[in-house]
Amino acid sequence: MPKLDERLKAVAVQIRSRVHADIGSDHGHLLKALLTSGRIERGIAIEVNQRPFENSRSTLSGLAADVRLADGLEGLSPGEADSLSICGMGGELMTRILETHPGRVPADVVLQPHRRPDAVRRWALQSGFHLVEEQLVVGRQRYVVMRFRLDRSTAESANDPAYDAVDREAALLFGPLLIKRWETRFRDILVEEYQYLMRLDQRTDDSAQRLSALSKLLDRNGLP
Ligand SMILES: C[S@@+](CC[C@H](N)C(=O)[O-])C[C@H]1O[C@@H](n2cnc3c(N)ncnc32)[C@H](O)[C@@H]1O
Repeated sequence: MPKLDERLKAVAVQIRSRVHADIGSDHGHLLKALLTSGRIERGIAIEVNQRPFENSRSTLSGLAADVRLADGLEGLSPGEADSLSICGMGGELMTRILETHPGRVPADVVLQPHRRPDAVRRWALQSGFHLVEEQLVVGRQRYVVMRFRLDRSTAESANDPAYDAVDREAALLFGPLLIKRWETRFRDILVEEYQYLMRLDQRTDDSAQRLSALSKLLDRNGLP
């Protein structure tokens, strides 16, 4: 796919639908790659800021895409898109966008938060979106790409089979499917974070919570 870095490539392979909306499209490269590779038929780019809106418009010119200047889901009508992505923002901002118009969120959602993926996982559990795929991307930084599918029957119960047989606190922080897969690279990243947190003289509430969850998780797996 043209012009995509490893992070957006990992997002793009999770998307295949008729109409796809990308919120915070910025440069517009994700939608361009999805359209030119035939993974989607039509794209909707939504940008809240003028300069990235114009960048998206220029990138997507001549392609089957609408480019809209709007704040998050303000720019999307209910039922208009089959799938949606939000990439490259913090997890709290993503959940604010998703919670502002829950009825406009399509059934297929791909999210790639730069920080606080736990906020995204909590939103999904509380909104009936099941985690169907979770990928770790290791480049200049580490990212997680998550694909969710709506199952309305579980919206009230915060129940998702992805969380079966894993510690809920560790799963929210580090990813239930990544924990179940327990690949060497993932395990090494957790050990590295554990060792770093252990060396700190003082810990914030967040780092103390991560250390406690990591310690239990690694212990359960016979490490470090
Ligand atoms: C860091 S860029 C990420 C761009 C691209 N999605 C990527 O992953 O490479 C975040 C973009 O989201 C846009 N953005 C932030 N809040 C938004 C909102 N509420 N609605 C639409 N776009 C938003 C910003 O203007 C910015 O262009």
